[in-house]
Amino acid sequence: MCGIVGYTGAKLAAPVLLEGLRRLEYRGYDSAGICVGRDGALTIVKRTGKIKDLRGAVPDLPEGSYGIGHTRWATHGGVSDANAHPHADCTGKITIVHNGIIENYASLKEKLLGEDHVFRSETDSEVIAHLVESVYDGDLERAVKEALALLKGTYGIVVMHSEVPGKIVGARNGSPLVLGIGEGEMFLASDVTAMMAYTKQVVYVEDGEVVTVDPGGFRTSDLKDNSITKNVEQIGWELEEIEKNGFASFMEKEISEQPESILRAMRGRLDAEQATGHLGGLNLSSKELLEIERVKIAAAGTSYHAGMVGAYLLEAMARIPAYAELASEVRYRNPIVEPQTLHFVVSQSGETADTLFAMRELKRKGATVLGICNVVGSTIARETDGGVYIHSGPEIAVASTKAFTSQITVFYVFALLMARMRNMSFEEGSDLVRDLDAVPRLVAEILEDKATIQALARKYSWAKDFLFMGRGINYPVALEGALKLKEISYIHAEGYSAAEIKHGPIALINERTPSLFLIPDDRLRDKIISNMKEVKARSGKVIAVCVRGDDEVAGIADDVILVPKVHELVYPFLMVVPLQLFAYYCALDLGRDVDQPRNLAKSVTVE
Ligand code: F6R
Repeated sequence: MCGIVGYTGAKLAAPVLLEGLRRLEYRGYDSAGICVGRDGALTIVKRTGKIKDLRGAVPDLPEGSYGIGHTRWATHGGVSDANAHPHADCTGKITIVHNGIIENYASLKEKLLGEDHVFRSETDSEVIAHLVESVYDGDLERAVKEALALLKGTYGIVVMHSEVPGKIVGARNGSPLVLGIGEGEMFLASDVTAMMAYTKQVVYVEDGEVVTVDPGGFRTSDLKDNSITKNVEQIGWELEEIEKNGFASFMEKEISEQPESILRAMRGRLDAEQATGHLGGLNLSSKELLEIERVKIAAAGTSYHAGMVGAYLLEAMARIPAYAELASEVRYRNPIVEPQTLHFVVSQSGETADTLFAMRELKRKGATVLGICNVVGSTIARETDGGVYIHSGPEIAVASTKAFTSQITVFYVFALLMARMRNMSFEEGSDLVRDLDAVPRLVAEILEDKATIQALARKYSWAKDFLFMGRGINYPVALEGALKLKEISYIHAEGYSAAEIKHGPIALINERTPSLFLIPDDRLRDKIISNMKEVKARSGKVIAVCVRGDDEVAGIADDVILVPKVHELVYPFLMVVPLQLFAYYCALDLGRDVDQPRNLAKSVTVE
């Protein structure tokens, strides 16, 4: 989703801003722009399209040592040069970039038009520049605060004024903003990746805070001008982790990293001696863990599918009633918070608005909410009562892959911990520790067989529609496989419980609608085989992901992808990887931009 950068220091600002925006490209955007200040004048350059288009269109970048930049993902107003940020006030002396949505922009705009302000875009964001203009009296920070007090909605903003060279004011309410501290230079960005090439010292700006920077330092305060002291933190990621490192795309890199990322998610958390799990950040005593009678999980997209697997693991291992829900639904359903219920929110980015707002609603009603996040210092990670980092390293490709397998790793460890405190024997716990421990090696084996999956993708990428079928713990994996395929290849795909197809979806089956069946050798295998036969009987083509040596399935399906035989609770780790690769290779075959699929954003910070 939209990205923000700001720079003030001794360097030429434009290249720093463009490099920062390039690092934010992965978030998804449709236009980009920068504004650079020099000698009391501001120059704006903005265009629809990619950063390279912006660079190509303006070979002589504006000179100056402070500026702001933005990648826009359209919400209010179409994709056009005029709607791209930065936006200026009437005089051209004040410029702003904004992430988020200003809900009362229409009434503010009407009032400002009545005061003869001239608007040049259809965006909600532009009102901010005009509001600052209307109250500015020589003190930019104060004017920004006065303007913000009039806004309803969410924002991460940075603002500059030609009369105060080198000064940039940033503020946050519901949209991330981070300050980076360099030697005689300061950075502002919506995401640390934009500044990692220059500094690792950061300050996370909180909702309701305003930060004013110049090359020599910064000041944080609230809207009522009370000063706030902030902790300077160190970014834990290395620059090379946000590079492709020889891979054709971030998605391929991230799929390939899964043996290590799964290992990182379980490292130090599996206790073979006691046959249990350890999770340090839960902030719950053994007594409190024992008192939990129910678990509810809220998340969006891929993280929701991981939550569904997590709920299954908790019920299967620990016999605790658990279910996952879409975060976007939780918030508006006026959720019932019951005693002895533990809530989880799951989010790779830790910034997804639906998940964040669901978490706040649950906390407001007294729930204990734990987070399972990847991005350290993200809003959800900071606002939850405790939680677990998955330690996947940066996930840059828009389609989430390694985060999913790490999220389910954490759920597996949590379920094991809860199970061993309750019903599960030492022997059973030991088996489950051993089974999870083997997963990184087994995933590496599957990845070695990429060529088979690539060949299958070539064979089937003609399809306009695809069905994915799984049951039990692999039902969410079928949903995830369908999501991956549709988001990066644009092939329409749906996931179903294999048992459900006879209740409707079977009407779609014909020789032009292939199906992919997940068939582990578990209790439901024979039933899924019957469902597969029903599809074959209606001329449907079938790919089966099944266990090596399952000749019966291989004899029925048109094509097979083979995975090792494992404990039934471990199949999601192994079944999802071929589906990620299948989607990836279909997308490549169709010439899609796998890392930045159309219309999508990495971190969905608006509702
Ligand atoms: C799909 C995908 C999205 C995200 C969803 C939640 O590949 O990436 O469905 O899973 O937007 O994002 P997080 O996990 O950051 O809350």
